[in-house]
Amino acid sequence: MSDAPATHQVDVPLLQVEGVTVRRNRQDVIKDINLKIYSGEFVGVVGPNGAGKSTLIQAILGLLKCQSGTILVSGKPPMSKEVFGKIGWVSQAASHLPKNVRLTVRELVSLGLFNNTNWFGLGGSNATRIDEALRMVGIEHLESRDVNQLSGGERQRAVIARALVSGADFLVLDEPLVGMDRVSRTSLLKLLDDFCHDQKKTIFMISHDIAAMRQTAHRMIYLEETIRFDGPPTKFPSLEELALLRGIEDVHGGHHYDHAAEHCGGGDHSKPNIYDLLKEAE
Ligand SMILES: Nc1ncnc2c1ncn2[C@@H]1O[C@H](COP(=O)(O)OP(=O)(O)OP(=O)(O)O)[C@@H](O)[C@H]1O
Ligand SMILES: [Mg+2]
Repeated sequence: MSDAPATHQVDVPLLQVEGVTVRRNRQDVIKDINLKIYSGEFVGVVGPNGAGKSTLIQAILGLLKCQSGTILVSGKPPMSKEVFGKIGWVSQAASHLPKNVRLTVRELVSLGLFNNTNWFGLGGSNATRIDEALRMVGIEHLESRDVNQLSGGERQRAVIARALVSGADFLVLDEPLVGMDRVSRTSLLKLLDDFCHDQKKTIFMISHDIAAMRQTAHRMIYLEETIRFDGPPTKFPSLEELALLRGIEDVHGGHHYDHAAEHCGGGDHSKPNIYDLLKEAE
């Protein structure tokens, strides 16, 4: 049996996480995670602070060891040479660039090529890659600007360009919307959505902005120690249901969701933030 969406022809998931538990400080911080992501999906991950979202990303990247279970990227372990350079990672603190280092936007983006085995090779092709990455995120005009003189939104675009420059098809973004105003947020989300549709890139993005995720992601995951919801944004639980989910141990088995409901919008801005509700429940 496969939960591959009918629209995707390829059977091998881009990301396959099976029965993964990760332990930190002798405590299981994520438990029994099961997840399959296929090429071209835009998956939004939400959950309260300390829920294990960044831990899951670090395990996917192979930076943290799994206590049990397996993670495969295109059928290969994360740290294998076939996977090297295929995942573009924007870490939770990526846009906090050191203030005492003078770096232009172009230089910052070029750092993404350190991943690449041919970094010391011909400058020409690398220059083209950097041009392309700057163009993709729409900041070509800022290439000579000092990174400390960028707005929050421009800085996020620059760190995304750094993640893209190695040619990564799988973008893993940890809270890229933090510190951005509404206009920059919307344009960044539009850019990421375009990456999925036009370039078949796959996005795995953590955000506390549940309304933005409901409007943009094709699939949403609610993670709190384990996956408590995995499905289309239209089926994302109401705040009341989420509060209920918190008390239920294992409701994620199966992950059968209606992929036909992809690309739906409809975030409800009138409702309170999920995390306010969860705080109230404590
Ligand atoms: N380096 C670390 N060493 C030990 N424990 C850690 C470390 N980093 C995080 N933790 C713990 O692991 C748990 C999950 O943390 P994680 O950073 O994955 O949460 P998160 O969902 O990303 O939270 P946030 O929304 O605040 O970024 C928390 O209890 C946290 O205290
Ligand atoms: Mg985090």
